[in-house]
Amino acid sequence: MSMPGWMAGGGSMRPGTALVRRGQDLPEGGKLPKGLIARVWREFARPYRARLLLLILVISVTSALNVLPARLSGPIVDLLADPQAPDASSRLALLVGLLVAVALGASALSLVQRWLSSWIGERLIYDLRRATFDHIQRMPLAFFTRTQTGALISRLNNDVVGAQRALTGTFGTLTANVVQAVVAIWFMLLISWWVTLLALLILPIFVLLARSVGRRLQELTRQSMARNADMNTIMTERLNVAGAMLVKLFGDPARETEEFSGAAREVADIGVRSALIGRVFFALLALVGSLGTAVVYGLGGRAVIEGTISVGDVVQFAALITQAYGPLAALTNAPVEVLTALVSFERVFEILDLEPPIRDREGAVDLVDARGDVAFEAVTFAYPSAADSSLASLEAGFGDVLDAEPGPPVLRDVSFTAPAGSTIALVGPSGAGKSTMLALVPRLYDVTRGAVRVDGHDVRDLTLDSVHRAVGVVTQDPHLFHDTVRANLVYARPEATQEQIEAACRAAQIHHVIAALPEGYDTVVGERGYRLSGGEKQRLAIARVLLKDPAIVVLDEATAHLDSESEALVQRAFATALAGRTSMVIAHRLSTIVTADQILVVDGGRVVQRGTHADLVRAEGLYADLYRTQYAAAATAG
Ligand SMILES: Nc1ncnc2c1ncn2[C@@H]1O[C@H](COP(=O)(O)OP(=O)(O)OP(=O)(O)O)[C@@H](O)[C@H]1O
Ligand SMILES: [Mg+2]
Repeated sequence: MSMPGWMAGGGSMRPGTALVRRGQDLPEGGKLPKGLIARVWREFARPYRARLLLLILVISVTSALNVLPARLSGPIVDLLADPQAPDASSRLALLVGLLVAVALGASALSLVQRWLSSWIGERLIYDLRRATFDHIQRMPLAFFTRTQTGALISRLNNDVVGAQRALTGTFGTLTANVVQAVVAIWFMLLISWWVTLLALLILPIFVLLARSVGRRLQELTRQSMARNADMNTIMTERLNVAGAMLVKLFGDPARETEEFSGAAREVADIGVRSALIGRVFFALLALVGSLGTAVVYGLGGRAVIEGTISVGDVVQFAALITQAYGPLAALTNAPVEVLTALVSFERVFEILDLEPPIRDREGAVDLVDARGDVAFEAVTFAYPSAADSSLASLEAGFGDVLDAEPGPPVLRDVSFTAPAGSTIALVGPSGAGKSTMLALVPRLYDVTRGAVRVDGHDVRDLTLDSVHRAVGVVTQDPHLFHDTVRANLVYARPEATQEQIEAACRAAQIHHVIAALPEGYDTVVGERGYRLSGGEKQRLAIARVLLKDPAIVVLDEATAHLDSESEALVQRAFATALAGRTSMVIAHRLSTIVTADQILVVDGGRVVQRGTHADLVRAEGLYADLYRTQYAAAATAG
């Protein structure tokens, strides 16, 4: 089967773009929020307006040029029908010359068009990515504990690219189609308005059929995207180290494969169906083209026989009508296409519109030369509700409404003061709220009631940057970036010298370990790099804090059992890290607790006992129990 010219080449109708674009969400109910286009223009398109206008101009001229060969076929045929006419050969040369010029012009302009659209497109992608990444980073920790990383990454990849396509692709195609159709129809009208009218009368039938095909295809695309998402979830969950280990230890590879291939098979089935339905669209289009050509030759042919128009006119008309049908057909789906393209912008804006709840207050001051006094004043805290910290579309149950109720209070009426340079040990049963207390100091979360103060300032009145500079954190299971040891160490202080780095590592009792690594400080560690043990990682994290040299250190001691040698090393590292700084330590080791200036016993979100080790063992209560059952036992065992 031969393809009509307007399908095969040059045209504005590329399979897949005229129909529903794959891999993007379609707008529900076909509605977009008002003002979206205005906002796209204002925030992202405006800097490129000169080039955008130029692009539209170039696209228009190229599309008009594309119609010219059809227009020129008429005079050429007429010329050949009367070869004896005076200066026939020179006119032929002129017309052929024009054809060549048009072809050259069109190809040159298509290059310019490609250059312009990629120039604008790539910069737009850059702008959008940068803005989104910057914004996401400023979201509070609660946001990251709730959202699915995959969903976030997809916003930064697919939707950003989709948004760019909306601007340079969809609108370009739209312009090209409109211009080409208008120019072709205009030339047709110049020959015969009534043949034009009759030839175009076939179109509405096609439009109706194409619409229903389009709707069916939309539905399939939606299903295919959902199945693809299922497949992606299975892959990201199972193919990372932790997931793979879980499958090996508890799972059944055959069952996993069965589940995966179920989703994959559905994707395949849908692919076949949508290919078939897509083909129906083109078959319809081909049919309409042939019918239109038949109408032209039938009616136009009679007009030639009656002597009202020339042979050239009929040939030209037949060529033009194919030039008009393609774009007109493509335009039947234009509304859906535009909506689809704009959805990506909407999804990007959805993220940009999230207000980070933890940020610098108006008039926030810098904490300079922090002494390190820390105080909790009647602090009550509940973890923020899902609705307050995230977006439904970024969470697992896509499209669900998020819970707006904050959780129950995890801390109730907690008060204490830690003078600069003192050490506070937090002890208490699992789930008591110890880690939560530590998280409030560097403002990973904001208190619900009461206040956390540093040097007398409510931390919410200080700039986040300066609070983060003043507080160093060592978590139970510190994270290392997939990068060299050095890069991980200087992350908190990029200007640190090699001497400073080594001094910090010696103090943290980790230098000898690093020195023995294959490439020393240039060894790549982290997720996919060299594996450090739990104790080594924690000492590296302590070195990182020492380099940062903050006034306040908060530290979650690892519960993991260490052998007595690394226990001693971690112990010494801690002692150095804490010396001369205010420290809040969640302690699991007796040695840390007995040396603390103050012990807070936390239970059920409240401070139930406080005092020094000597005070607390004497008093009957939770601490004495904990001491007898845990610390004393651990101390003798260790
Ligand atoms: N991100 C969170 N969102 C909601 N609730 C949380 C969150 N993190 C912790 N919680 C809840 O807050 C309570 C206190 O948790 P926290 O991590 O502070 O306990 P902990 O004293 O550090 O316990 P452990 O000794 O086991 O580390 C727990 O009931 C826990 O379920
Ligand atoms: Mg904890």
